[in-house]
Formats: sequence, C-alpha cells, structure tokens
Amino acid sequence: MTDLYKLVDKLEEEKELSLEEWTRLIEGQSSEISEYVFSKARKAREPFYGHEVYVRGLIEISNICRNDCIYCGIRCSNVKVNRYRLTKEEILSCCRSGWEMGFRTFVMQGGEDPYYTDEVLCDIIAAIREEFPECAITLSVGERSKESYRKLKEAGAERYLLRHETANEEHYRMLHPENLSLAVRKECLFNLRELGYQVGAGFMVGAPYQTARHLAEDMIFLKELNPAMVGIGPFIPHHDTPFADMKAGTLEQTIYLLGLIRLMLPKVLLPATTALGTSDPLGREKGMEAGANVVMPNLSPTEVRKDYLLYDNKICVNEEAAENLRSLKARMEAIGYMVVCDRGDSKNMEN
Ligand code: 5AD
Repeated sequence: MTDLYKLVDKLEEEKELSLEEWTRLIEGQSSEISEYVFSKARKAREPFYGHEVYVRGLIEISNICRNDCIYCGIRCSNVKVNRYRLTKEEILSCCRSGWEMGFRTFVMQGGEDPYYTDEVLCDIIAAIREEFPECAITLSVGERSKESYRKLKEAGAERYLLRHETANEEHYRMLHPENLSLAVRKECLFNLRELGYQVGAGFMVGAPYQTARHLAEDMIFLKELNPAMVGIGPFIPHHDTPFADMKAGTLEQTIYLLGLIRLMLPKVLLPATTALGTSDPLGREKGMEAGANVVMPNLSPTEVRKDYLLYDNKICVNEEAAENLRSLKARMEAIGYMVVCDRGDSKNMEN
C-alpha cells in the first residue's frame, strides 16, 4: 500500500515510471490512492492552466467510414447506420453559430470518408481559416499519408486528434480488422508531430481484453510521443457491434488515469470527454477534479447528431449547442472552474 503512494510521489517528481511500476500503480487503483492522485494532479495543472477550462466546438462532419473497427458504432459493416455527410456550407454554418457562442477552436471530426480528398478538405479548411482567422482548426479524420497531412496543414489546420487506441500490438489486433495496424497508426502520429501539428493521442479505458499491463504500455507510449493533448474515455459498448455484450469501462478507472496522465505530462491538454459524461451524470465534473482542463461540446446540426453514435446512450444528442454550452458553463462554475473564450493552445509544445 504505502509503496503505491511512493510510486505516485515518484511519478510527480520524475514524471515517469517503468513498465513494471506503471502496471503496479494501475492495478493498485482504489478510492484512497485515487484521491491522493487527484489532489496532486490539480496541483500539477494549476501553474499552467489554473482553474480555466478550454472549450472546443466539435463538428461531426461525416459518419461514413471505410474502416471496420470492432468497437465502433459507425464501423462500415454496421448497415443500420443512417449515413450522412455535411456540406461545406453546413460546416461553415456550424462554425458561425459556434463563433457567436464564443468558441475559438473548431474540431472537424469524422469517419474515414473517402469523399474527403485533400482537395475537398483543404477547400473547407481554407474557407474556415479565411472567415475565422482567430480560431484554431483541429482535424480528427483518421489515417492519411504524410503528404496529405502536409497539405491540410498548409491549408490552415493546426491540430490533429488521432487516438492510438492501444499501444500494445496484440491488443490492437483484438480491436481492429486485419487491414489496420498499430505500426501505421503510430507512424501517422509521428508524421503529424514532425509536420508541426499540435497532436492529440489517446485510448479507451476498459476496452475489451485490456489489461493493466496494456494501460502501462499506453502510458509509456504517451511519454515517448509527448503529445499536446491526450483524449481518453471509457469504452462503452454499441449494441450493433460485435462488442455489444462486453463490459463498459469504469468512470473510476478513467478518472484515475486522467490524474496519472496529468502527473506525467503536467502541461498536456486533457479533455473530460463525452464518453466520460455518458458513463456518469457527473463524469465531466469528476474529470476536471481529477486533472482535466478541456471540454468538447457538440456543434453538429441537431438533425445529424443521432446518427453519429460511436457507443450507446451518448449524451447531448438532443440538446441545442447554445443550451449545451450554457449548462456546461454553469456546471463548471458550480465546482469552481471557469470556461474561457480562448484558442486554448497547449503549453506542451516545447518538443
Ligand atoms: N466506446 C467509447 N469510445 C469509443 N470510440 C469509438 N468507439 C467507442 C466506444 N464504443 C472512441 C475511439 C475513437 C474516438 C473518436 O472514439 O477511441 O478514436
């Protein structure tokens, strides 16, 4: 027991642990050690981000995907999904209403939709860049060639979210179809970083077949990549996937890992994700209290929200963006945090 507290102290001081130490710390999760981690994580966040919470407007541009990831509700073999794709005008209109509400970062997220050639995507990015020069443009549209990432960056994209999903080769195989590989995934992340993007990696907590050792490998991979942002959320089964009957990841383990990530990478941007909010009504608040500092409300048109379901029971599907933001602000204020109108660049970019 006391050994675990010493490991947390060591992590706080040295910002890294060995694979074996990480495994022990992750296996040893309890509410007592979690509280210890959270209080240190809040302290670690303080000098860089204080009590400020950055918001990102999430625009789900397409649920068409060429991939068949076993866990994901919009995998290509799920024929029950009503597929959609937003037009450039629809995306720009989301940005306009987002701007009015105070968003200064737009995240365009979608499946790997072949319609989005470099030409099409660059045209959309350039239009946003021109109309909203003060805003940061983030992309989350999956694996592409380095050349493609370069063109998207030249068009005005500055940030890219691509979760590595799991840093363990065998585990990666259990979650993905044959044609996808961890090696390519990692290569994409390193390419993005080389091109100067602020990169976001991450994984699902409690994903099927995941062990403490896998999570330990995730921590070591994150240390090596040193990303600007880390997105983690609990795995939540989707009823029309082969993982329909698998157990969901827990809120407790997710927030424990949020706290540990904050201790390892104090300056990293750490969102309290929608999946975390889905797993517990107070999930996002608990995420903030564990060291998170970002929330990503949905700016997608309400008509399409019900079709962008990666997992079951997703929250805010029927809420208007403005209402959603208002309630988030109130909820953050109630626990002593303040949503700010800011691009919210990462302070973890000196690599
Ligand atoms: N439960 C939780 N998160 C999921 N994602 C995909 N499917 C699920 C699920 N069933 C996550 C993946 C992906 C991100 C966009 O959503 O980690 O990278």
